Amino acid sequence: MILVVGGAGYIGSHLVKELVEKEDVVVLDNLSTGHREAIDKRAIFVRGDLGNEEDLQMVFRSYPIKAVMHFAAFSLVGESVVDPLKYYENNVASTLTLLKVMMKFKVKNFIFSSTAATYGIPDVELIDETTKTAPINPYGQSKLMVEQMLADFSKSYGLNYVVLRYFNAAGAHESAAIGESHDPETHLIPIILQQLLGTREKVSVFGSDYDTPDGTCIRDYIHVTDLAEAHILALEALLSEEKSAETYNLGNGLGFSVKEVIETCERVTGVKANVEMADRRSGDPARLVASSDKIFTELGWKAERRLERIIEDAWRWHQKQPY
Ligand code: UFG
Repeated sequence: MILVVGGAGYIGSHLVKELVEKEDVVVLDNLSTGHREAIDKRAIFVRGDLGNEEDLQMVFRSYPIKAVMHFAAFSLVGESVVDPLKYYENNVASTLTLLKVMMKFKVKNFIFSSTAATYGIPDVELIDETTKTAPINPYGQSKLMVEQMLADFSKSYGLNYVVLRYFNAAGAHESAAIGESHDPETHLIPIILQQLLGTREKVSVFGSDYDTPDGTCIRDYIHVTDLAEAHILALEALLSEEKSAETYNLGNGLGFSVKEVIETCERVTGVKANVEMADRRSGDPARLVASSDKIFTELGWKAERRLERIIEDAWRWHQKQPY
């Protein structure tokens, strides 16, 4: 059985939907940001808190867990700058509690959701796993701290782990049964689509004077189902003992500027956006684009879905929402 912590959240719920096809799954989530209805019915759901040792012990006592996948983190760069305590408490301290209980119950396989934010402002076209990590905000820092703990736990306690550094997760399940739903929403693609649906007055472009061809920030958008598929390959590599301590980037290897994303949304939906230029948002690097060659070479994973597809799937999901 696989324990998915944070399986009611955006990325966790998409992973669970794929994983239940292959494994028995138990989801632990406190529903602070996740949604009960997003959890696939085939998974067992336990409402509980990552930072609560008793909740964790109860789960490990009740189910024969062979691996843990951890999605239960706060992930907003801007919020982490305003409230670092929230990020270090949940993303670092609570994760340490989880690892402690895992060691107690001798569960040695762990998949960790990390982030491109660990790289800070890298000075390279394509970021690979050897690019220096130098986070510029508490969110990225909190994820890097856990990565460092994992390396030490691996050496001292024989923990097997795979760290997956996501670039910009986006899109929705192709069935439109689940998708991205944050409150408040801060991510670019959902904000544009909500504006196109008329539930927002405008889309603000945060900065048009960056050192990029059109002056707006460039990101590598990756479909949430591609992310889910990478997790399953990583899990198989851990369970088959093919891998024991690895870090992989997950991206498409293609960068799109904020303006290009807006244009693509307009093209896919056939609706014109109401756009305004605004000031830069603090903590935003100009460009973050992944090389995912390592995971392709080692596990055969490659992102299959491009930006159009990401937006098509997200659009279908957003049109179903009762805004
Ligand atoms: N942006 C706008 N207007 C908006 C919202 C976003 O111009 O209304 C811009 C941002 O400034 C940024 C780009 O669109 O340049 C993407 O912003 P998102 O908020 O969608 O995503 P981020 O790049 O800030 O962060 C996301 C995740 C992080 C992760 C990071 C890795 O939220 O957890 O991708 O690249 F670390």
